[in-house]
This record gives sequence, C-alpha cells and structure tokens, in this order.
Amino acid sequence: MLTTISRTDTAIPDHASALVGDTPLLELARTGAGTRLLLKLEQFNPTGSSKVRMARQMILEAERTGALLPGGHIVEPTSGNTGLGLALIALERGYRFTAVVDTHAARDKVRAMAAMGAELVVVDTGVSDAPSTVERRRVADEIATRTGAFRPDQHNNPANSDGYTDLAGELLDVLDRIDYLVGAVGTGGSLCGTARELRRRGAAVTTIGVEPVGSIIFGGPGSRYWQTGAGSPEGFTVGSNVDYDCVDEGVAVGDVDAFTAARVVARRTGLLIGGTAGAAVSLALRRLAVVAAGSTMVVLVCDAGEKYLDSIYDDDWLRDRRLLDEAAHRRLHRLLNAYADSVGIAAADLYRKAGA
Ligand SMILES: Cc1ncc(COP(=O)(O)O)c(C=O)c1O
Repeated sequence: MLTTISRTDTAIPDHASALVGDTPLLELARTGAGTRLLLKLEQFNPTGSSKVRMARQMILEAERTGALLPGGHIVEPTSGNTGLGLALIALERGYRFTAVVDTHAARDKVRAMAAMGAELVVVDTGVSDAPSTVERRRVADEIATRTGAFRPDQHNNPANSDGYTDLAGELLDVLDRIDYLVGAVGTGGSLCGTARELRRRGAAVTTIGVEPVGSIIFGGPGSRYWQTGAGSPEGFTVGSNVDYDCVDEGVAVGDVDAFTAARVVARRTGLLIGGTAGAAVSLALRRLAVVAAGSTMVVLVCDAGEKYLDSIYDDDWLRDRRLLDEAAHRRLHRLLNAYADSVGIAAADLYRKAGA
C-alpha cells in the first residue's frame, strides 16, 4: 500500500544540526527616543550556543578540502561551547572527537559533551582554577601531531567566521536597520563573521567587541577573570579570527558588571543568559542612552545561563569570589525602569538620574 507523505512531514528534520539557526530576537529595552536593544538568542540552537554554527562550518570545510577523511578523528581545545558543537557534528557525521578541556570549564558543558560521546582530556595545571587556555592548546596540538587527528584550530580557521553568514542573514530578514552589533569576543568568529556579512550586504553597522577585564585582546593588561568562553589571557597569541579591521571598538567589561547584567536579565525576562552575554548586555545598556535616537542595537547572546547555575547564578559562588554586588543589581534595575518609563524624556537625562 502506498502511504501519502504530507508536505509538512517531509519538512520535519531527522538530525539535530538541521535545527541550527533561525534563532529568535527579544527586545530587552526601548527608550523614549525610539532606540531599541535586541537580544539575538543563540542559546536556542542545538547545544545551546551559537558556536555550533561554526563547528559545523569547520567540519564541512575540512571534509571539502580533504583535511578530514571519513571516520576520522577531531581534536580541539575548548571551554565547552565549541566542543559541544563539534561533538554534535562529529556524532552525526561519524567522527571520533576528543575535547581538551580544563578544570575551569562549566561542569555541565563537559558532562553534555560526554553525553554526546566526546572523549575528554582534562588539563589541570594545578596552579589555580583559572582557565588554562595556553596549556589546553599545547595539549591538543600534541595529540594532533602524535595521532594525525584533525585539529580545527578555531582561533585561526576562516571557516569559524564563515559559519556566521546565516546569522547575519537572519538579522537582515527581520530588521530594517542594524546600527550597532555588540558581542563578546573570544576567537572573534561570531562578531567578525556576522559583521562582515552584514556589511557585505550593505548594512552600515558599528561593531563593539566586549572582552573581560583582564583579557588582552584589545590591549588591556592581563589579569584573572571568571567569564568563560570570551577573552584571551596573558601569554595567549590572539588568532586571525579576531579581525581588528572589523571591530570598531573594543571594550573590557568586568566580571561584576557582566554577571550582574546576566542575573538582572534573568529576573526581568525569565531567560537566563550566560556571563559573556551579560557583559555585552551591560555595555549595550549603558550605550543605549547616548547613541542616536531611533538606533537599533543587537547583542549576540552566545549561550544560556542554565550552563552556569553552579557559578554566576549561585550567590555563594559569587560571594566567595567577591563578585556579588547587590547595589549594582539595583542600579541596573533602575536603569531598565528608567528606559521603560522614558517616553518623551531625553534618555541621557534618565541615564544620569538612574546613576548607572
Ligand atoms: C560563552 C561564550 N561567549 C562568547 C564566546 C566568544 O565567541 P567567539 O569565539 O565567536 O568570539 C564564546 C566562545 O566560545 C563562548 O563560549
């Protein structure tokens, strides 16, 4: 007997990576001047992060060039989100994947990678629980050299930033204008890749890259920071995916401001965002009052806060590290209230009144 397959049935995907992209936008704030702050919620991708876009692109490109052969082995150092993306694509396409992580990685990201069949090599420098980005890279290189595994090298692989072409298209599909694009910078792929495609398609967008205070990407002195995924520590060679020509301004945001903003967003929207997204939101909210009236500012939210329930959403964890600042939480709530109440009043005055 012939079965009839309806058009809707044939459109239902049969592998998770087909669900990547078309992530939603959420308006977080609007001022009386008609300026909007929108969040591009990349946590709605499979693996809960934007990084699966680039993981897929790096693998497809490696297959195309022959750098990765059927049944091959992939090894990459990761703070988690790239590893989750690679784990997903590896399992779908039949590769072995080894993630080199450190003890600083969010526990749930590491567990999720293991759940998807990734092999884990945990680097423990024993010095502190600071990220060991340099050591992770050294160990991954050593494994790749010894075993012949494919090492995507997300910091220097152009397929990383190329993986965000669709993201730019998704923004242009729904927005008439994008004046500012704000994003946390680690490898630089998401901000630079998105901005490059926006500009190629004619958008006059100003980009603001955000790194943790203590990261050295935009020239600040190195020191310890607790944001994970973004930034580069002292001693790390910044890769070519940080395209300085593509970033109009680089700003360092401290952990207290980053985590406060993430928590305030959670309290006001019910959506938990990660700490690096919190940093970008913190900067964007301060800028919203001073940019030209009617501007649209988009913040790239790399991942969700559910990955950080044991850290930035845990009061004791924050207190132990002197990162819990109740007054900063109140100031940010006041600023958001002021924006919400600001119809007809110059936003910059409100910004001053809120004392933020
Ligand atoms: C949580 C988080 N935020 C920000 C970034 C930075 O993104 P990119 O590497 O595209 O600069 C990453 C990268 O891994 C991340 O995991």
